[in-house]
Amino acid sequence: MSNNPALLPEWSTLATHAQKMSNFLIRDMFRTNPNRFDEYSLSFNGLFLDYSKNNLNAETLKLLMALARQQNIESARDRMFSGDPMNTTESRPVLHTALRAPVNPPVMVGSENIMLFVHDILKKIESFCRDIHQGIHTGHTGKRITHIVNLGTGGSYLGPQLAVEALSTFKVPRIKTFFVSNVDGADIDRVLKIAPPEQTLFIVASKTFTTRETITNAHTAKKWLVETLGHSVDVSKHFIALSTNDEAAQAFGIRPDLIFPFRDWVGGRFSLWSSIGMSIALSIGFDNFQKLLNGAHDMDQHFCSAPLEKNMPILLAVIGIWNRNFLHRQTQAIIPYNARLARFPYFLQQLDMESNGKSVDLDGGKITAYDTGSIIFGEPGTDSQHSFFQKIHQGTDIIPVDFIGVKKPDHPYTDHHTILMHNMVAQSQALMEGRPDISEGQNPHRYFSGNRPSNTLILDELSPYHLGLLIALYEHKIFVQGVIWHINSFDQFGVELGKELAKNIEKGDALHADSSTRGLLHHLFT
Ligand code: F6P
Repeated sequence: MSNNPALLPEWSTLATHAQKMSNFLIRDMFRTNPNRFDEYSLSFNGLFLDYSKNNLNAETLKLLMALARQQNIESARDRMFSGDPMNTTESRPVLHTALRAPVNPPVMVGSENIMLFVHDILKKIESFCRDIHQGIHTGHTGKRITHIVNLGTGGSYLGPQLAVEALSTFKVPRIKTFFVSNVDGADIDRVLKIAPPEQTLFIVASKTFTTRETITNAHTAKKWLVETLGHSVDVSKHFIALSTNDEAAQAFGIRPDLIFPFRDWVGGRFSLWSSIGMSIALSIGFDNFQKLLNGAHDMDQHFCSAPLEKNMPILLAVIGIWNRNFLHRQTQAIIPYNARLARFPYFLQQLDMESNGKSVDLDGGKITAYDTGSIIFGEPGTDSQHSFFQKIHQGTDIIPVDFIGVKKPDHPYTDHHTILMHNMVAQSQALMEGRPDISEGQNPHRYFSGNRPSNTLILDELSPYHLGLLIALYEHKIFVQGVIWHINSFDQFGVELGKELAKNIEKGDALHADSSTRGLLHHLFT
């Protein structure tokens, strides 16, 4: 039997069912079923999901679960957790889940129980946090470290930055954290202008320790330290590395005891749970970092044990498949109604699109019969309401939305919070209900079709634990979708060609390039 999902009878049944469903409106399904909200929502440890405002019914979910089962989702999940080389193109296990698990039971990679390594590194992170927070590890002149600058890009930045911003109410006093990701000199300039050299610690966060952007920024930071503190400065006191490439980190001048390793079974976009999370631990304290890991681990447990029909990541995944493949929605908006979660859409852009933006299947075949990952975008509400919500409400594309709210405010302005939450709920209501009673003929510009789908996720509070639950939820959603689409969600060869060509151009190899490439270079550099 082929693994191409579009050739499965379950797929054809869903396609036929989708045609039938086009005769139904979500608002009518609420009217005919007063229990719809209760039936189409679930809660896990302080994370609530309402998926009732989707164009689906019990039959849809039954068929979607049959598709997931046919694609062996449960065995794929179990294989991932136990260390099978799920990243087939790179022959690597995919074990970010091990980074947040207790030391027992063991997880074996070859003959190594990696849980011992994971917990050793956690202890090393904990002790370094203590050294920084208590002023034991100081800068070259003996002053306390107060400024942390994470130099890293992609997964070596998006997750940590999301967590540090989202959890800013848990911040350790005296520590200020900055992120420099872009090779644009303006990015590092912004930070070097305000960082006190004697009290600044640079974290070179790079899985490979070869990423041009990060290494360029690291060299600039080193030069700045020498220029500002003098040639006798011991720069090694101001640099640590988070990397799988010990050799390159040492060659850069990082002290071996200040290299915090992780392994190649952690994908960059899944690495915030590894030593890549150092900036998080330094910013909010190790205990809170551990709570973030605990939240993610509890979501792992739920993902592994809850029945498919009550399994939050699986539900989110199959609803996404329904929207993408059977209702042909190309995009997915992520709208956090929480300013501290402003970076969540950016984080998900990498997590989702780098994982599932694929057009070759696991057998190396070109995918032509079905679509894979959605286009992810988003901004926090209420700001997004005043920019692109026009299109979400009245545009020709139907854009499914994930609304994300937090029940308990973490600031004293509770009246603001009430307005914010009212807005979030009103938006999902407006998308679903529309304003169909104003006929197009009478007043076409004020017509709202409604029937526009959304999920709403509500965290009890924006704590490290709840953030851990939320991030792991989306990690597993994306994994499940990748399994159904029969793709490898764990490689990212698509980012390489551009990097190679940039290197060629740098070497002066653009001589035989097309006239636009040559013309642009000429325009820029003459
Ligand atoms: O270019 C994409 C990418 O490889 C991401 O997958 C990764 O998160 C990022 O670059 C950074 O890579 P590194 O941590 O090796 O510097």
